[in-house]
Amino acid sequence: MNLFFSVNNVVNPTALAQEAIDLKKQPFAHEQLGKHKTLGLIFLNPSLRTRLSTQKAALNLGMNVMVMNLDKEGWALEMRDNVVMNGTTVEHIKEAAAVMGQYCDILGIRSFPSLQDRTSDYNEEVFNKFITYCGKPVVSLESATLHPLQSLADLITITELHNSAKKPKVVLTWAPHIKPLPQAVANSFSEWMCAAEVDFVITHPKGYELHEAYTKGATITHHQEQALEQADFIYVKNWSSYHDYGKVIGDYPEWMLSLERLKNTNNAKIMHCLPVRRGLELGHDVLDSDRSLVLKQAENRIYAAQIVLKKILETQS
Ligand code: CP
Repeated sequence: MNLFFSVNNVVNPTALAQEAIDLKKQPFAHEQLGKHKTLGLIFLNPSLRTRLSTQKAALNLGMNVMVMNLDKEGWALEMRDNVVMNGTTVEHIKEAAAVMGQYCDILGIRSFPSLQDRTSDYNEEVFNKFITYCGKPVVSLESATLHPLQSLADLITITELHNSAKKPKVVLTWAPHIKPLPQAVANSFSEWMCAAEVDFVITHPKGYELHEAYTKGATITHHQEQALEQADFIYVKNWSSYHDYGKVIGDYPEWMLSLERLKNTNNAKIMHCLPVRRGLELGHDVLDSDRSLVLKQAENRIYAAQIVLKKILETQS
């Protein structure tokens, strides 16, 4: 493996999740694999879980890790080609990415969307330039459109918790928020669930339809109550409009889940990638109950990152 950007970079997502569960039982079994190898983690946006879990995963594999919050600590980057750099940007992505590639054996990068220019965001212009110029294997730490390490951790969590021969019913529900958020987590969770062995339903208010490239195979409904019936796992997430790009087109506070709203589910477990705004996106009662899997998902971020780094290191050795 040389690139981890989407589910399409994985031969068998179900098998990869199982390998991560096996790795979790013996996290230091491969601590020689990463010896004298360096992982560079580059953040253009804030992070708690991705930064720390990926760092921990690399340490478990014996790697050295360098982290740079490029948005705060680096020179202002120019992403456009063939421009005279007589404005605020100081360094071009061509040189910056190539230099980081010289210092590292594997690079991870987080680059959120602008939510202003859909074409640029969905063409992954920042991420793709980074891949082109760094010359090393790249792991997405969340790009403009996808968050694959989160989705792999989510699949690991569902695989660990599901205890029936029947396929689980997994529901992705839109939740309220005051700010326009990226579609990346929702796009990514959808494409991973469509590739996994689950019955997958997406529910959201009208106008919050996701790009259909990520939802092929899912059942999509605007009726949240109906979608939740007999659900085994419910993934709660806000996203801004794809069609009216980057806009909050309606508040819909009634879409926030509380324990009362879960009564017709199959004792559903509740998932969220975090950070979560309590009482806005998801009820305090749900988050404080044993129905919540949010901490387990966060823990599994370590093993999602570790299995991906292990695959890349094995390709290099
Ligand atoms: N879920 C997630 O990616 O969290 P961070 O933004 O804190 O990394």
